[in-house]
Parts: sequence; structure tokens; C-alpha cells
Amino acid sequence: MAAGVDISAHYSRGTLLQRLQAALAADGVDRPTIETLAPYDHFHGRGFAATQELAERLAPRESDHILDIGSGIGGPARYVAARYGCRVSGIDLTPEFCEVARILTRALALAARVDFHEGDALSMPFSDASFDRAYSMNVAMNIADKARFYREIRRVLKPGALLALSEIAQGAGGAPDFPTPWAKTAATSFLATPEETRRHLEAAGFVVLSVRDTAQEALDFAKMSRAMVDRGEQPPHRAVRLIHGDAAAEMAANTGRGLAEGRLVPVEFLCRTPE
Ligand SMILES: C[S@@+](CC[C@H](N)C(=O)[O-])C[C@H]1O[C@@H](n2cnc3c(N)ncnc32)[C@H](O)[C@@H]1O
Repeated sequence: MAAGVDISAHYSRGTLLQRLQAALAADGVDRPTIETLAPYDHFHGRGFAATQELAERLAPRESDHILDIGSGIGGPARYVAARYGCRVSGIDLTPEFCEVARILTRALALAARVDFHEGDALSMPFSDASFDRAYSMNVAMNIADKARFYREIRRVLKPGALLALSEIAQGAGGAPDFPTPWAKTAATSFLATPEETRRHLEAAGFVVLSVRDTAQEALDFAKMSRAMVDRGEQPPHRAVRLIHGDAAAEMAANTGRGLAEGRLVPVEFLCRTPE
């Protein structure tokens, strides 16, 4: 699948583990934990803070098996499993991310409850009605076939299951500038408006419980990060820099401008499948 190859290539340079180890050593971290990895392994706007908020809305129970769609290097999956005591399975298109996710999960002694599958969210290697709840953080922007994406998620969820989504939506102000953290060019960026996403979710059979625009939280987080950098401190969210290296500054500037001009709107959906 050509687009899939382009998307994986955008995220992968083959040296992620070494770069992460170097970043942790520079931070003075000798033992990775949920907290010491958090600046690096939550690869979405507002990082760890956004994961904690989304997880609270999903409210996993200890007996749940949770699906993380587009699990990246696994920070959200490890956090959810550690905080709520449940089982989490992640699936991601990028082989290097799955490999690093497994290494970090073993290092945190969570491998008995957290596993990662390399694969495409449009055709997942899971049986119908396998999962109690699911979430996906900043993945839909890479998915052209939204109808199929939400139908496939619905397929693997049990009746009455919750789904929490975060994504960057298309705002009214026009297309974003590229590169962004999720795409080098418009060829692999597929933004939907919040209304379009709601329609796709409902067409797939989900009941949409809430839609939350988090643009103000994103702008406040960016302001706080800039203030920390101005004081000579490290910003709280360093995943884009870890993954994309020198290109990260331009990506962050393009995203910040897109947010400020209403071209990009971070949005969260909470939905459930019918009983
Ligand atoms: C911005 S990252 C977010 C990673 C993770 N959700 C997080 O928040 O830390 C987007 C992720 O989506 C994955 N992805 C993109 N398209 C996908 C697809 N069709 N199937 C599975 N994963 C996909 C990428 O490989 C990448 O890991």
C-alpha cells in the first residue's frame, strides 16, 4: 500500500531507540519509568496531559481489554495499563515504532498486559467484538478512508463499548502549512472537519456522546512550553523533536500557526457502540 509506506517512512529513520536513549541520558534518567519516558512517548498534542485526560474519559475497568489504534511507541498504552490495571493491545503501521514500543514495555515490566501488533488500522488482525473499549490519539489525520477506519474499529468492539478519539481536525481557516508532525506534504494528510468525523462515526454505527474542542488547551500548553524554554528549561513535550529531529521546529511552527489561525482544530470524541 503506497500511502502506508509513505506514512511509515515519514515516522521512521531506523535510529529511534538510540536517539531516545541519548535523550534520556541527557536528562539524567538511568531507569525508564512511565514518568521519565512521558516527555517522549506520548506523540500527540499536549503529550502526557492529553493522554491522562482522554484515559479519564474512557474510564477503563481492571477487567477490560483495551485497543490502542495507531499506538506509536506505546506511551499511552503503558500508561493506561499501569494506571487502570487493565490489558492493552496496540496496533501501528510503523514497524520501528512497534519494535521500540515492545522494548520499552519490557523495560517497564508491563509486557504481560501490554502488547503491540504491526498492522493497518483499516484491516486489523483481531476478531469481531474482541475489545471492551478503544482509543486512538492523533492517527485519523493519516487515514484517507475514514468510513472504513471507523467501520473497522466498530467491528472489533463489543456491544456497549466506549471509543475515545483525539485528532487534529480541519478548521474553517484553510489548509495547514507543511510539514506537520503527521505529514511532510498534503499527500499523506487527510484532515476531516469535526462535522465530517461525526457523520463517519454515526454512519459506522457509533453513538456520539460528546465532542470537545481543545484548541484553547493547545494554545495554553504552547504558551507554557515557550515560557519554560525562555527560562532555560526543557519543554514538557519532546516527542516531535525525538521523532523528527531538526525538522521538528518547522513542524511545530506550522502547527502553532494553524491552531492560532483556526486552520487546525484539535478535537476529542467520546462514542459508544449500541448495546
Ligand atoms: C502522531 S502518531 C501518534 C502515535 C500514538 N497514538 C501517540 O499518541 O503516541 C500517528 C501514528 O499513527 C500510525 N498510523 C498512521 N496510519 C496508520 C494506519 N493506517 N494503521 C495503523 N497505524 C497508523 C503511525 O505509524 C503513527 O505511529
